[in-house]
Amino acid sequence: MGKKAVQDFIVIENRALNSSNFYIKVKSEFKLPDLKPGQFVNIDIKDSSEVFLRRPFSIFEVNTSENTIAIIVKVLGRGSKKLTEVKVGDVCNIVFPLGKGFTIPQSDERILLIGGGSGVAPMLFLSKVCGLPPENLNLLLGARTGEDHVNVDEYKKYGNLYFTTEDGSLGEKGFVTQHSIFTSNLKAFDKIYACGPDAMMKAVAKEAKAANVFCEVSLENLMACGIGVCLCCIEPTIHGNKCVCSDGPVFNINELKW
Ligand SMILES: Cc1cc2nc3c(=O)[nH]c(=O)nc-3n(C[C@H](O)[C@H](O)[C@H](O)COP(=O)(O)OP(=O)(O)OC[C@H]3O[C@@H](n4cnc5c(N)ncnc54)[C@H](O)[C@@H]3O)c2cc1C
Ligand code: FES
Repeated sequence: MGKKAVQDFIVIENRALNSSNFYIKVKSEFKLPDLKPGQFVNIDIKDSSEVFLRRPFSIFEVNTSENTIAIIVKVLGRGSKKLTEVKVGDVCNIVFPLGKGFTIPQSDERILLIGGGSGVAPMLFLSKVCGLPPENLNLLLGARTGEDHVNVDEYKKYGNLYFTTEDGSLGEKGFVTQHSIFTSNLKAFDKIYACGPDAMMKAVAKEAKAANVFCEVSLENLMACGIGVCLCCIEPTIHGNKCVCSDGPVFNINELKW
């Protein structure tokens, strides 16, 4: 893990992707370090008397020549709502880069990336940077409705794109673990990566374990400090209790007591 920094970034873009998801891009005046898919930033929510703790967000895009980082924020509660109200020119104080990223696959490996809800962000970042031939990369994204699938069209160029929606309005109807690419033959993949709601990741992990396929998941345990000090993000593993913020958020499923 590289050195962490606490830095002010300037907001250079904030746009709504749909009714509840926002794309926020921030720029640093300093050169960005190497940032890996699966790592996250911890953002101070400014001007809020109710939100004291920083909120963690996965890194979605990085531009090292422009020193920018983009995140996708889904409005859930007070912190995320307040964050989506930032304006171009506002200052955001960010602790980064946090956590350990995904294992980058070899170029001849066939992989399946699974993202649900806000877990889509690190999967899209991984699909962009892992540099696989598109025929080896499969991206399966799950959401409640077609409208919830945001900012994904450009990812067609990185691999095969599959969707599920709970209402059947885009892709196959149901959960990601019910999609035919998932149910047909998991052994066809060398590596599976997943990020999303707890129940989704547990279901993915169960099937990946049964098929004996390498699988990493990125956990979204509630966090406070983000740097392994407060112990509020603990996850039991076969190696004892681990801090999701500093030992994760990415874990191999065989380490987890699921
Ligand atoms: C490593 C990591 C990466 C993340 N990446 C993203 C991202 O890319 N985009 C994004 O939109 N969000 C992401 N999150 C979640 C984001 O940090 C939460 O949305 C945020 O903490 C919610 O804060 P809030 O102040 O809006 O909600 P709060 O007011 O704190 O909580 C509102 C309600 O939501 C529940 N809640 C809070 N956080 C979560 C959670 N993570 N999962 C389930 N329920 C929760 C609370 O228990 C409460 O009931 C990530 C979380 C982690 C740990
Ligand atoms: S959030 Fe404080 S130890 Fe992980």
